[in-house]
Amino acid sequence: MPWTVRAAGIGREEAVLDIGCGTGQTTRDAARIAVAGSVVGMDLSAAMLREARRRAAGEGLGNISFEQADVQFHPMPGKAFDVAISRTGTMFFADMAAAFRNVAAALRPGGRFVQLVWQEPARNEWFCAFRDAMAAGRTLPTPPPGAPGPFALADPDRIRAALGEAGFTGVVIRGQSAPMWFGADADAAHRFLTGLLGWMLEGLDEEGRAGALRGLRRSLTRHEQPDGVFYASAAWLVEAAVR
Ligand SMILES: C[S@@+](CC[C@H](N)C(=O)[O-])C[C@H]1O[C@@H](n2cnc3c(N)ncnc32)[C@H](O)[C@@H]1O
Repeated sequence: MPWTVRAAGIGREEAVLDIGCGTGQTTRDAARIAVAGSVVGMDLSAAMLREARRRAAGEGLGNISFEQADVQFHPMPGKAFDVAISRTGTMFFADMAAAFRNVAAALRPGGRFVQLVWQEPARNEWFCAFRDAMAAGRTLPTPPPGAPGPFALADPDRIRAALGEAGFTGVVIRGQSAPMWFGADADAAHRFLTGLLGWMLEGLDEEGRAGALRGLRRSLTRHEQPDGVFYASAAWLVEAAVR
């Protein structure tokens, strides 16, 4: 079970909000626990939600629904949820405090908010390896600290400040490290990552693109293990409660 879902301590009758649910793995995990409750998965992306709905229907989960919305500004039902979870979905908010205030308003008094966010790039081997391969010798621009993106909440002080400003209390931040799986073998991981990161090849000529993809394959092959392709990763598991 993903850390986020485990740490949320979801009860069988609870109402759960999954923020930036993507294709809904954690939403489905939560729905299997809150069997007499309900789970709402919220995401910006229609394509992700299509897949999330397909998978939830495939598993026959009747206590789950999905909504396409920007969690920062979406008019949430007031005090409707017992717990909000998010696995790497909260770092993309442009206005972190406003988004967290919106989440706080959707939670019942005492409601919990559990998020998993990436630690700094240097502690995430997957990020450095893929960025270096796709850069193919170029120096790619580094977003300023705190800018919306995968590492926007890498600084625990920023997490505490944004949660505090939004009315959360009892903030606990724990470091988590684990090998991250990218595919059954280097071929599968290469297919997945060229789809995901193809945009990073923009600006390279044909030779540069081919070189970048060869570099990516070399790295994936080096990280192949009998049960898949793994890279080191480090995240913060953040727990808080609304007053
Ligand atoms: C890295 S993915 C994580 C997906 C999922 N939680 C998982 O663990 O597989 C981040 C997700 O957050 C969503 N997202 C980003 N900003 C959002 C926003 N403002 N409101 C709702 N969803 C957002 C993206 O569309 C994307 O699906």
